[in-house]
Amino acid sequence: MRAWALVTGAARRIGAEISRELQRADFNLLLHYHRSDDAAQALAAELQELRAGSAQLLSADLRDAAAVADLAAQVDSLCGDDGLAVLVNNASTFYATRLGSIELSDWDELMGSNLRGPLLLSQGLAPALRRACGSLVNMIDVHADGTLRHHAIYCAAKAGLASLTRSFALEMAPHVRVNGVAPGAILWPEPTLGHEAENEALLRERRETVAEIPLRREGEAQDIARAVRFLAVDATYMTGQILPVDGGWRLVPPRIAPLA
Ligand SMILES: NC(=O)c1ccc[n+]([C@@H]2O[C@H](COP(=O)([O-])OP(=O)(O)OC[C@H]3O[C@@H](n4cnc5c(N)ncnc54)[C@H](OP(=O)(O)O)[C@@H]3O)[C@@H](O)[C@H]2O)c1
Repeated sequence: MRAWALVTGAARRIGAEISRELQRADFNLLLHYHRSDDAAQALAAELQELRAGSAQLLSADLRDAAAVADLAAQVDSLCGDDGLAVLVNNASTFYATRLGSIELSDWDELMGSNLRGPLLLSQGLAPALRRACGSLVNMIDVHADGTLRHHAIYCAAKAGLASLTRSFALEMAPHVRVNGVAPGAILWPEPTLGHEAENEALLRERRETVAEIPLRREGEAQDIARAVRFLAVDATYMTGQILPVDGGWRLVPPRIAPLA
C-alpha cells in the first residue's frame, strides 16, 4: 500500500503541479479543493488514469474552523494506522490591501486561508503525521518579510506561516519534519474580466519584475513542485528550513515608488 500525501488548494496552478510531482514520487494523493470543482475532478481523473486508486478528492473552506476539523478527521480516518506521510499547506488567497482601505473582511479572508487554516489543519493532522513519521511543507512567499507593496495582510499571514514552520518543526520533532518553500514570481494572478486597467497594470508590473529578477525570467510551477518533493522526501536531515525558489529575487532591494 502506497503512502498518502495531502495537498491543499490542489485543483489548479502550483497545487496541481505539486500533486503530479508527488504522484511521480509514488504517493497516493488526497486532493483538497474549495471552489474549483471541475478542475479538481479533471486532475483526479488524470492521476487515476496514470495509476488507478491514486487520487481522492476532499473539499473544504479553510477559513471555516469546523470545516477544517472535519477535513482533518476525514483524512485521519482515510489514512488509518499508516498515517499521513506528507501534508502540503498550499492553498492561499492573494490580493492587494492598501493602508487606509483595509476592511476586517480582508483580514478574515487572507489570514483565514494563508495562516489560520494551515495552523488548524496541521494541528488536526499532527497525530496522523506522527504515525507515518511524515513531513509537512508550508508554501510561504519570498515577500513574507513585508516587502511587497500594498500587500500588508498577505505578507503578515505568510510571515506568520514562516514562524509556524519553525515552531512546529520544534514541536513535531523528532517524528515529523516541518519545512517551507518561499516562491518568487512563478504564476501571476489571472486577469479579471472587465477590469482592463488593473489587468494592464498587472502586465506592466510583470514586465518590470522579470527585468529585475537576477535570473531574468519567471519560475515555473514545476520548479516549486520539485522543491516540495525535495523537502518532503529527500531532505531527511532538514527541519525548520524555508527554501527560497525565486531566481534570486530576494536579493534585489525593494523598488522605491513615490508614496501614494
Ligand atoms: N503564484 C506565485 O507566483 C506564488 C508566489 C509566491 C508564493 N506563492 C504561494 O504558493 C502557493 C500556490 O500558489 P498559487 O498561485 O498556485 O495559489 P492560488 O492559485 O492563489 O491558490 C491556490 C488555491 O487555494 C485555494 N483556496 C483559496 N482560498 C481558500 C479557502 N478559503 N479554502 C480552501 N482553499 C482555498 C483555491 O482553491 P479553489 O480554486 O479550489 O477554490 C486556489 O485554487 C500559495 O500558497 C501562494 O501563496 C505563489
